[in-house]
Amino acid sequence: MKIIALNASYRGDKGHTRRLIDLLFEGAQAAGAECEVVTLAKYKLNRCLACDQCHTPEHYLKCIYADQDDVAEIFAKIAAADLVVYATPVYVFGISGLLKTFLDRLYWTSDVNEMRVTRSGLFFHHVDESVCSKPFVSLICCDNLDPEMPRNTREYFRIFARFMDAPHVGELIRSGGWLFGYGHNPKAAERFPKIDAVYAAYRQAGRELARNGRISPATRRSANQEIIPVPCFGLLKRLRPFKQVMVQKAKALRLLV
Ligand SMILES: Cc1cc2nc3c(=O)[nH]c(=O)nc-3n(C[C@H](O)[C@H](O)[C@H](O)COP(=O)(O)O)c2cc1C
Repeated sequence: MKIIALNASYRGDKGHTRRLIDLLFEGAQAAGAECEVVTLAKYKLNRCLACDQCHTPEHYLKCIYADQDDVAEIFAKIAAADLVVYATPVYVFGISGLLKTFLDRLYWTSDVNEMRVTRSGLFFHHVDESVCSKPFVSLICCDNLDPEMPRNTREYFRIFARFMDAPHVGELIRSGGWLFGYGHNPKAAERFPKIDAVYAAYRQAGRELARNGRISPATRRSANQEIIPVPCFGLLKRLRPFKQVMVQKAKALRLLV
């Protein structure tokens, strides 16, 4: 099993998202998987200019600018892997611009004039299955604790899976990402005892990916659990008065950890 993670944070190896990928890969490697992190911020990625040359007979499914950046190299890495982890921080309610810039380049690999019906019954054009249809895990990292915050990003990957015929084999959503991102923090672990359970769940998720090619529902729930030690926090945080308390607590927390 070869797993490749695309880290789409501009903070690259120093970011919270990278920390979560490392936890996942600790488990996957222990279970025998070969793992590689592609830190997109270190690669040269040009924007798709929508010139549509790739859809002319002359340059059919070839980007005329492909020799000017590293996108083809990353496509080759995806094609050679069994599974992809799309790992992105939430940037202004969606996937990071870095990931979107990269994914826009998939356009050159698709024959947009050849229509088909996807396995989930959607009307869409041909895609290069070796790159677009890989089984994938979405790993979303944001700081905000409101369940609305990652909603758009989650939806993006659901739609991606359905149009690309790409099996969505795991969804990891980490709110409060800043509490995890800088490695083991004794003050944070003391204040939020569930942090260790989340670390363990990420490692378990990695083991499951290596062994079964997917993350089980129980492990997903454990990895995505609330870490705030308040009973029924998930329900309470939807209530306006409780949100006011959260704002005060959040200010204090920033100072604490
Ligand atoms: C440009 C930018 C936009 C952001 N927008 C959001 C946002 O909309 N919601 C949120 O919860 N966090 C937002 N954040 C915070 C990041 O999602 C959060 O810090 C995440 O843990 C960063 O992961 P990283 O360190 O791997 O980049 C934003 C950060 C940046 C730099």
